[in-house]
Amino acid sequence: MERIEGDARAGFVPGEYEMPVEGERHPVERKSPALRDVQPHRDRNLTVDAARYTSREWAELEWQRLWPKVWLCAGRLSDIPRKGCWLQFEFGVESILVVRGEGDAVHALLNVCQHRGHQLVSGDFGEGPQFVCGYHSWRYGLDGRNRHVTDRRFFREEALCGKLDMPSLRCETWGGFVFVNFDNDAIPLSEYLGEIADVLADYRIEDMAVVNDVVVQLECNWKTVLDAFSEAYHVHVTHPELMEAIEDKYLQHDFYAHGHSRQWVPNGIPSARLGEARLTEPLKYLLAEAGLDPADFADRPGDVRPALREVKRRRDNPWGLDYSRFTDSQLTDSWAMNLFPNLQIIVQPEGVLFQRYIPDRNDPQKCRQHIMALAPRLGPGVRPPAYLGGSDVPDPDNRPERIRTSWDAPDLIDTIGLLLWQDVDTTRRCQRGMQSVGFDKVRFSEQETRNLHQFAEMDRYLFDEL
Ligand code: FES
Ligand SMILES: [Fe+2]
Repeated sequence: MERIEGDARAGFVPGEYEMPVEGERHPVERKSPALRDVQPHRDRNLTVDAARYTSREWAELEWQRLWPKVWLCAGRLSDIPRKGCWLQFEFGVESILVVRGEGDAVHALLNVCQHRGHQLVSGDFGEGPQFVCGYHSWRYGLDGRNRHVTDRRFFREEALCGKLDMPSLRCETWGGFVFVNFDNDAIPLSEYLGEIADVLADYRIEDMAVVNDVVVQLECNWKTVLDAFSEAYHVHVTHPELMEAIEDKYLQHDFYAHGHSRQWVPNGIPSARLGEARLTEPLKYLLAEAGLDPADFADRPGDVRPALREVKRRRDNPWGLDYSRFTDSQLTDSWAMNLFPNLQIIVQPEGVLFQRYIPDRNDPQKCRQHIMALAPRLGPGVRPPAYLGGSDVPDPDNRPERIRTSWDAPDLIDTIGLLLWQDVDTTRRCQRGMQSVGFDKVRFSEQETRNLHQFAEMDRYLFDEL
């Protein structure tokens, strides 16, 4: 295993490493301050009690103090393209409808009739001029206002006291996503996202289309799976084949305000853990995809990334994209972004992998992993990056149906791709182990500083330190 430990570059501190760039450093490539400057209590969670992943008491604390306070991604604006379209976001006991109303207004409404509590609609998506209750036909407008009480004259005035409208939530948009917040006093979404919105602006995620949409029922706490996607320390064991295509050790970690973070992962270069770089099969694939002859790079694997960038800079590049607004590093590398508390997006110009983890209201050892792949309009026949899952050339004009599946579905590898399957498999085993009497605490290394950032930020909510 010594080879896996790789070389030890002098002075390398994982969370403080600054990715080298050629030429001038662009503001989006800026290394953030060290975690200790963003989270003064960063060391408080160097070990984390296993109960935080397994116990109902800890989950209840999250339900009371975390989830009612944070901005939650509810869905994609493109899924409510016209007036009258709605999408349903189920979270805890709540069903939230995100509705396109008059004049393009977007409303977030609780899906509950004010007569006797019947849910007004069911399903992931729908469309209609109003909401009509399926119990006694009360009617509500697209903005949630009560429009009709059936046989109103038979209600005594006192019975119709208070508001008869569907309750609404704070609702704001960014990157083509709709976010909701149960807290009326929450800071605006733009302030909550802060610097991360600027860092991601050039990807124009708002213009990307959903090309894959899968919900996986997992047998683990939502933080168990979030943890796995917050670090690259596990890559050499969980995804050994990935080491042939990406760097997994010398990574830039950036820590932003409000718990968000970035892991900058160079692509098109074998892991430093593998020793001297060679032209691996994935690198040959990338070259061929760019219309280059891998044989020309047999003895100079270090030239693969510059060559890929050069091809992308051409107006007639095979991806059919205009790369002019991107930095050199953005052309080849991926940025794995954590948007606190439960959303992760991995961005490249050719596509975005979206993952959000929805806790289970009744069982802290279950959650739903919602995976979406988003892609810009690529050239004919071009596939987005393999890590997005899905094997077909996507059709941005034809939104795929949402697939619902489970960690134990026999065809899960085909549905979500090998890479994500490997993580699902790991997190299940991890959750099992965490329940053991032989395990009392998780230990985070300096390669898992984004996990430390997550826990430090959660503590601010759970222990009233905001
Ligand atoms: S519960 Fe909706 S009209 Fe009666
Ligand atoms: Fe992984």
